[in-house]
Amino acid sequence: MFETLSKAPQDKIFALMAEYAADKRDGKIDLGIGVYKDDAGNTPIMSAVKKAEERIIATATTKTYVGVAGNKGFSAAMVKLALGDSVPLDRVRAAQAPGGTGALWVLLTLLKRAKPDATVWISDPSWPNHAPMARQAGFAVEHYPYFDPETGTVRFEDLLARFEKFSKHDIVLLHGCCHNPTGANLTPEQWDRVVALLKKTGAFPLVDMAYQGFGDGLEEDAYGLRAVGREIEQFVCATSCSKNFGVYRERVGCAIIVGKDAAQADIVNSQMLNVIRGAYSQPPDHGAEIVRLILEDDALRAEWQAELEAMRTRMIANRKALAEAIRSRSNSSDFDFVAEHRGMFSLLGLSAETVNHLKAENAVYMLDDSRINIAGLADDRIQRLADAVVAASR
Ligand code: LMR
Repeated sequence: MFETLSKAPQDKIFALMAEYAADKRDGKIDLGIGVYKDDAGNTPIMSAVKKAEERIIATATTKTYVGVAGNKGFSAAMVKLALGDSVPLDRVRAAQAPGGTGALWVLLTLLKRAKPDATVWISDPSWPNHAPMARQAGFAVEHYPYFDPETGTVRFEDLLARFEKFSKHDIVLLHGCCHNPTGANLTPEQWDRVVALLKKTGAFPLVDMAYQGFGDGLEEDAYGLRAVGREIEQFVCATSCSKNFGVYRERVGCAIIVGKDAAQADIVNSQMLNVIRGAYSQPPDHGAEIVRLILEDDALRAEWQAELEAMRTRMIANRKALAEAIRSRSNSSDFDFVAEHRGMFSLLGLSAETVNHLKAENAVYMLDDSRINIAGLADDRIQRLADAVVAASR
């Protein structure tokens, strides 16, 4: 049986995480996987999450099944958090999913049923798992221009030129905010132009919203998705609570579908539930119940928002400190874009050779495309990282 198989490629993010863990050098710097870490290098449980969890332990009376769509209160709260009031709720359906990746998988599988011959368009570059997931769902994958590593900014005119040529046979995967891996994002005005082109060409938006609250704020980060919601009749969105609630291993996400009317939304929802039942039957409840409790309880929600805001502002402070440290050592503004980027990541634009050198000589771990996780950078490491980057890029 297994003679037919050859070794599958390793996921580079998790491979790097294992390599870092095995490195015995003191003072090693982990800028790899997208996990928030405090100054001590820990990823603590948020206090609002801990309180919600304690409440569940104290009050839960059963572990019986919840249902194929999962925790309905959770999904309703996630729809509100992501879409605001941009879409009338009678056109929206949602299912809890195992993480943002699980939500993406559910939606891609659903879209394959709806439009098997569509092409999925992904930004160049994108999260390394996007293209494999779309291919695994059976789609052809193409890339649209997105990032200019020379300037650290979005190639917006090139992007527009590609978007002009889309048709209703295209599915366009958009990062809702905090672009992964580049950190370069569309401005509200740019989102408006993108949405106008999606509307004009009939291309179908699939929005991946994995970092709401990590960029410019919870509401600000939803600008693009809500612009899609106001203007476009049918679309889907995958949201994740891994980062903004810090519940990574609990696998909490939500698959959201928007139909042209309630009757269509019901049909699409029935297909989505059929996909889920045929795959993992139903999602695990614990993490979703934590998030539901927080979003529905005023005091817990306020506490969570304050913690999220502290993480967000720390990431921006890290960005400014790193850009400044590099500038003062290199006497150049080459990396100033790091301070302008938003979210966990920035793509530094270093060669694979330089990235390898930094790992071998300085125990600095970043993805091979030179993506760094700014949220993993303890204050005392910033100066050392700046030294290493400036020396290695000379
Ligand atoms: C990342 O890009 O590092 C995170 O989204 C974690 C993951 O699942 O890849």
